[in-house]
Amino acid sequence: MTFEKKGFTLWFTGLSGAGKTTLAKKVQKIMLKRGMNVEMLDGAVVRTNLSKGLGFSKEDRDTNIRRIGFVASLLARNNACCIAAAISPYADIRREVRANPENFVEVYTKCSLETLTERDVKGLYKKALAGEITGFTGVDDPYEEPENAEIIVDTEAESIDESCDRIVRYLETKGLMPAAPGDDIDPDEEARILDKLKALDFVS
Ligand code: ADX
Repeated sequence: MTFEKKGFTLWFTGLSGAGKTTLAKKVQKIMLKRGMNVEMLDGAVVRTNLSKGLGFSKEDRDTNIRRIGFVASLLARNNACCIAAAISPYADIRREVRANPENFVEVYTKCSLETLTERDVKGLYKKALAGEITGFTGVDDPYEEPENAEIIVDTEAESIDESCDRIVRYLETKGLMPAAPGDDIDPDEEARILDKLKALDFVS
């Protein structure tokens, strides 16, 4: 598939701690290596500037997601890529932001509540389960699972590298990301190819 640069939004949705930010950063790094213009809008970060002051009521979450979607659409129309990583728990608003950008790829980072509670990287599940935080997504606040996500990554069963790989392959196949064959060839294979080229006098 030939690559023609066009803007798009890669939208990660999923519960807190499911791996959205980790995967988003990893994919962004690969995109940058391949010379793409890419920006990242992470919910936790956006909430310290663009969405500062917003809380976690449905209304505030919707406002947060609309803002992220709006910025993503501005970037996309300028041929840049935007990676969004926010819980985005409500299906109606996800549908709304999806309608804005021309190219939209939704990635559902799936992980069970049991595993998230075990991982509890930020210690928030423990607090939510103890009732110290109320309205916590997945505990006592809803998360509406995506029904039409382009990609579902099961971060419980797959390694981060496997999930990242699947996302990159999907984007390559859709012509949204230039392929970098060099990245995928293992050193032994590369040496064999080089030997062959030398034997054919293509390289010295
Ligand atoms: S969203 O619902 O509006 O999409 P967003 O992704 O921006 O959420 O922020 C989620 C982050 O805020 C979580 O990873 C967590 O660190 C923190 N947080 C604080 N309170 C809550 C809550 N009640 N529900 C979910 N996340 C919360």
